[in-house]
Amino acid sequence: MEKISIEREISPLQSHEIESSLRPNIWEEYIGQETIKKNLKVFIQAAKLRNDCLDHILFFGPPGLGKTTLSHIIATEMGANIKVTAAPMIEKSGDLCAILTNLNDGDILFIDEIHRLSPPIEEVLYPCMEDYRLDIIIGSGPAAQTIKIDLPRFTLIGATTRAGMLSNPLRDRFGMNFRMQFYTPEELQMIVLLASDKLNKKIEKQSALEIAKRSRGTPRIALRLLRRVRDYAEVQQEEIISLECTKYALKELGVNELGFDLLDLRYLEILVQSKNRPMGLNAIAAAMSEDEGTIEDVIEPYLLAQGYFERTARGRIATHKTYELLSFPNDSLFKME
Ligand SMILES: Nc1ncnc2c1ncn2[C@@H]1O[C@H](COP(=O)(O)OP(=O)(O)O)[C@@H](O)[C@H]1O
Ligand SMILES: [Mg+2]
Repeated sequence: MEKISIEREISPLQSHEIESSLRPNIWEEYIGQETIKKNLKVFIQAAKLRNDCLDHILFFGPPGLGKTTLSHIIATEMGANIKVTAAPMIEKSGDLCAILTNLNDGDILFIDEIHRLSPPIEEVLYPCMEDYRLDIIIGSGPAAQTIKIDLPRFTLIGATTRAGMLSNPLRDRFGMNFRMQFYTPEELQMIVLLASDKLNKKIEKQSALEIAKRSRGTPRIALRLLRRVRDYAEVQQEEIISLECTKYALKELGVNELGFDLLDLRYLEILVQSKNRPMGLNAIAAAMSEDEGTIEDVIEPYLLAQGYFERTARGRIATHKTYELLSFPNDSLFKME
């Protein structure tokens, strides 16, 4: 298998720093997700009128769709402090107690990858979410004692790439549940145009649309491609990023016209090779030498949303669209025009 030329987003924690400069912090710059925005604006206004904090919020959806960004905008709108952490960093219940007891009234606590909290930590979280009360058990056996500590009123915002991995009792304790949608090419074009403005680099509208079309519905990918394309344009001394240069750069980066890179194509190829026999995730992972989590989080959601495969009880199966796509020689998938 050829080397993958574009690194894929594996953990949502990886690229925080490079991204923060392009991260919108007001509603106007947060493009798309209209239903979510409309609802959130109402709930934020209502909470402010009541002088209360927001109910707990859960965002779920593939990496790079704007969950972290949205949480920061909510904090700004509420005029609240936001503390950011991720479930893998909360190993012991003591870690969680430390975070919670350090919160102030009205604070927002953002827990990324919340599906990775261990069951005992979830147990500690339940009364905190419901009654703003922390129950700590000291000692064990008959001498064990529970100490109850009152917490300030806070809002928990959880983000997860896997709604299915969240336990029911935890999911039920969120007052609001939002599923992030993939973005349309037009929305991504707008995001690219706004970002190039911030980067101080001019870009033709058509170039922005070309990047948008090849970004698998994902702002993080669009922004990453924009940076790479900008590099090519600068080396070619283009003042305004042209469509020609954009297409050339994207081809060099190994992104085809549908936005698929070699990892996506390899995935589809494996399904097609199984000749209509449904394949389990573990078999696909073995064939690709990839981690199952990466395949489920990063590769599958977009391909599934676009109808390239179906998930049945017996496994994944390629659709007609995929057979059609792969019936061309592989080279033509990377053709320029
Ligand atoms: N709706 C949006 N409008 C503009 N930019 C966005 C939007 N959603 C995400 N982005 C950009 O995409 C990048 C990834 O978003 P992020 O919030 O980190 O995604 P997630 O937390 O879901 O993985 C951020 O740098 C942000 O600037
Ligand atoms: Mg994130």
